[in-house]
Amino acid sequence: MDENQKKAIIIGASSGIGRALAKKLSAEGYLVGLAGRSLEKLQALQAELPGESQVKQIDVRDTREAIHSLRNLIMSMHGVDILVVNAGVLFQNEDFVWHHEEEMIKVNALGFAAMANVGVTYFLSKGSGCLVGISSVACHRGSGRSPSYNASKAFISNYMEGLRQKLSATAIKVVDIRPGFVDTAMTQGRKGLFGVISPEHAAVFIFNAIQKGRSIAYVPSWWGIVMWFLKRLPENIYHLGYRKYLAWDKKPSHP
Ligand SMILES: NC(=O)c1ccc[n+]([C@@H]2O[C@H](COP(=O)([O-])OP(=O)(O)OC[C@H]3O[C@@H](n4cnc5c(N)ncnc54)[C@H](OP(=O)(O)O)[C@@H]3O)[C@@H](O)[C@H]2O)c1
Repeated sequence: MDENQKKAIIIGASSGIGRALAKKLSAEGYLVGLAGRSLEKLQALQAELPGESQVKQIDVRDTREAIHSLRNLIMSMHGVDILVVNAGVLFQNEDFVWHHEEEMIKVNALGFAAMANVGVTYFLSKGSGCLVGISSVACHRGSGRSPSYNASKAFISNYMEGLRQKLSATAIKVVDIRPGFVDTAMTQGRKGLFGVISPEHAAVFIFNAIQKGRSIAYVPSWWGIVMWFLKRLPENIYHLGYRKYLAWDKKPSHP
């Protein structure tokens, strides 16, 4: 292994955006660490990558074990320059089932913070590095259909702002990625989507944001304008619009 090679780890690399980003980073010459729950999917991805990679099974719901595994992966890769925390789950939880709410908080918020902690601690020890968190445009407003999802994304974005403040006197970058709708397993079967892009397209946006050292990047960038307006709407108008959106989303496409 070339110890001077650029290195990146993706937590949640087995499908969707994480998978596409792994391919992009590998094509750009990075040694890539692939982490997630499904070893089988990670190994299938590994076989497709043009460059060298390592696979590690990590379930971020078990933070103690996940922290230990991520540290081991960093060690076995002889370091890391970019850590992408992409793992996330979304349940359309209309019946407000607790275990779905709990899972979203565990994976998206608690799991994120645990992985970010390992990354930042490591980057502080070497004096540089880049933490990338995959948040969402959903970070700006609440959602009656999946309250924990939007709240967990607000947590991630707020947490990264805190980390940027903490690390402002260092060379360590913290990049908050806020995608709109991306065509992955997470959005499959949903009707009320617009401006949907492919995971490969999203991966190019994310890679460019990392290269430019952006603090916050909307994917694609026009979502930044949409959210600038949406986050300023008074709550009653936001709720009214959201109810209309839900009615549209639930309308059968073939009457
Ligand atoms: N698709 C969109 O429209 C959209 C929009 C905004 C933001 N995002 C965010 O983008 C990220 C990727 O989502 P995606 O759309 O690519 O969906 P996806 O295809 O379902 O990917 C989710 C990834 O998270 C991993 N994951 C889930 N639970 C995990 C756990 N407990 N431990 C470790 N890894 C876990 C999955 O791997 P395993 O199943 O192998 O564990 C998978 O690799 C998520 O954070 C999501 O919130 C997506």
